[in-house]
Amino acid sequence: KQKILIDCDPGHDDAVAILYAHRHMDLVGVTTVHGNNSLENTTRNALAVVEMGRIDVPVAAGCAEPLAQVPVGIAAMHGKSGLDGADIPDPTRTVIGTHAVDFIIAMAEKHKGELILATIGPETNIAMALRREPRLKQWIREIAVMGGSTTLGNITPAAEFNIFADVEAAWAVYESGIPIRMVGYNITRQTGFDQGDIDRMRASGRKVASVLADLMAFYLEKQRVGYGLNVAPMHDVCAIIPYIDPTLIDYVHTSARIELTGTYTRGMTVCDLRTLMNSQAINMRHATPANAHVAVAARSRALIDQVV
Ligand code: BDR
Ligand code: CA
Repeated sequence: KQKILIDCDPGHDDAVAILYAHRHMDLVGVTTVHGNNSLENTTRNALAVVEMGRIDVPVAAGCAEPLAQVPVGIAAMHGKSGLDGADIPDPTRTVIGTHAVDFIIAMAEKHKGELILATIGPETNIAMALRREPRLKQWIREIAVMGGSTTLGNITPAAEFNIFADVEAAWAVYESGIPIRMVGYNITRQTGFDQGDIDRMRASGRKVASVLADLMAFYLEKQRVGYGLNVAPMHDVCAIIPYIDPTLIDYVHTSARIELTGTYTRGMTVCDLRTLMNSQAINMRHATPANAHVAVAARSRALIDQVV
């Protein structure tokens, strides 16, 4: 089983990603960051999720604010607590005494060359870890990112939430030289649970599945009202999927860069997809080196069937 550490801001789709990764991979820990909600709430939610899933891994709390920008504020999609929709008991477990940044470094050193670091919230902890321990660049096998988009954003026309919530941190991650596997909003927006999936979950009779069904029903309703979607997007699960079934998402190996400035484009992931149109060098002026596998297509229905 491949080793994975999940850095997250639960969040409905983060919760599913944690449970799903634990089911199929060797989950070595969960670290939390500001994002969908305050660090306090995302940490509480992460603890509640691991407890609910009986997942015996360390949970470490990380950074409460972005590196160099004003916080963007909480994400309405996930409700007041960051994980609204079900009565989840307050966790009895607590975080470990190590800060997420130090925990990420320790795990990367322990599992040198093996560890997949999944970032499914703002990338603040990862950027801090890279600055604190440059050898991380040799130690991490791949960074799995849910973030950005090759097309439209969900926060601005150009930017997706996880990148927009800490643009400088995302820049540090994308420029780190560690191989990036990015799945963006262009894919994840349409890849989610529909009402039928939620009904199936509920019908399974398992306790965890019925709590999840309540959570997902809340999230689906928010997506319906907010974005006119008839699915509850499983953004974060899509970052985990390629390590379990590599046939479900197609990637292009290319350059993906973070736009730090721009009147309308701060936080955009500028992905060079010109190779898809025409691979002739003459049309590839101003190309920058490939640093990422960028998701360009997915078999969304098959993917979701894997997860339900
Ligand atoms: C991302 O933003 C969050 O609301 C989700 O958990 C996901 O990580 C999608 O833009
Ligand atoms: Ca998230």
